[in-house]
Amino acid sequence: MSICLAITTETSEGENRVAIVPAIAEKFSRAGVQVVLEKGAGVSSFYPDSDFDDIEFSDTAAEACATAQILLKVAPPSVEEVALMPEGCILICYMHPHGNDEVIKALRDRNITALSMELVPRISRAQSMDSLSSQAAIAGYKAALMAADLSARFFPMLTTAAGTIRPSRVFVIGAGVAGLQAIATAKRLGAVVEAYDVRSVTKEQVESLGGKFLEIGVDASSEGGYARELTESEKHKEREMMGNTVAAAHAVICTAHVPGRPAPRLIDTAVVERMLPGSVVIDLAAESGGNCELTQPGKTIVHNGVTIHGPLHVPGMLAVHASEMYSRNLYNLVQLLISDGELKPDWDDEILAGCTVTRDGEIKHGPTRERLQGASS
Ligand code: NAI
Repeated sequence: MSICLAITTETSEGENRVAIVPAIAEKFSRAGVQVVLEKGAGVSSFYPDSDFDDIEFSDTAAEACATAQILLKVAPPSVEEVALMPEGCILICYMHPHGNDEVIKALRDRNITALSMELVPRISRAQSMDSLSSQAAIAGYKAALMAADLSARFFPMLTTAAGTIRPSRVFVIGAGVAGLQAIATAKRLGAVVEAYDVRSVTKEQVESLGGKFLEIGVDASSEGGYARELTESEKHKEREMMGNTVAAAHAVICTAHVPGRPAPRLIDTAVVERMLPGSVVIDLAAESGGNCELTQPGKTIVHNGVTIHGPLHVPGMLAVHASEMYSRNLYNLVQLLISDGELKPDWDDEILAGCTVTRDGEIKHGPTRERLQGASS
């Protein structure tokens, strides 16, 4: 009997993406996997039902879930959605494992195997499954476009009969996947780009894209290529050293994150007040609180003539490609669950072990288990 894989419509507010696109559905079908899609699930990302061939459609999420052995989603499920899932099925989606306790407990109690896309290890073998990277690249690109759009100035240098316009100065904070894509996009638009990251290894990457790296003298490289949280004195030094660069920039793009923590606060109100009117701050860290003190998640405000934009759900703004890339990441991860056309996961595989949050009625992800045990004691 073939493996049954289901996809339901995303119910989380602001989520435009879908976990499967027609080309990936076709690949699953060709491999003998039975795909069931809730009718209309792809519409918000511009993939109408008519684009999907050789799959089954269901009228409701409950119907799609009923026989699912694997369930693919984008956003974490609600507790109500968990109740629809058949016991023992495998759910793969973003899980927000650093919070989201009620949902994780519900998944454990329902004996669902939950794989978190945020926890896929950042190792070479898992690159094709790394949706943090695929979606961050989209966010970085879009952030540079938003900066250009909301700015009162041109990004490129222009020589015209009406005079010469100087290029905009763009400062990108955080040179991870999103930051590097923002640098590349702002450069393509003709801006002069400077960037900073607490991981000193990013200097070479910034420079290879034609950006200038701001030297501050704080290095916080940590495990797995991520940044650690800075000490209070390091934070103070960073804010002070960055202040002049932020104040002189026409556009600041903030992308600094520390996994599982609120975003570091890097731009104080006083620094925004030193920026030129007509300048912009695009705060991609808005979802985890923002890198700028004035950021209001999901809102655009103007303070002293400076526009501060805190967009949410940015990858979904490019829903066609975001869904395509995410769906491919999922497809590659699902390959680890299947062998000879049957569901035969090796739970000791480094990638599967790394991203498993719940299985066999237990919480397998160490930090989540410890947090929940701490909360109940
Ligand atoms: P992220 O989204 O967690 O953070 C974004 C950036 O913010 C990071 O570069 C981080 O160093 C920086 N940051 C944190 N605190 C900061 C502060 N106080 N000031 C300035 N910058 C700060 O990171 P992302 O983009 O998901 O990935 C970061 C790194 O992970 C990559 O650059 C790479 O080293 C590693 N990685 C490895 C992959 C692989 O081997 N398959 C794939 C993708 C990423």
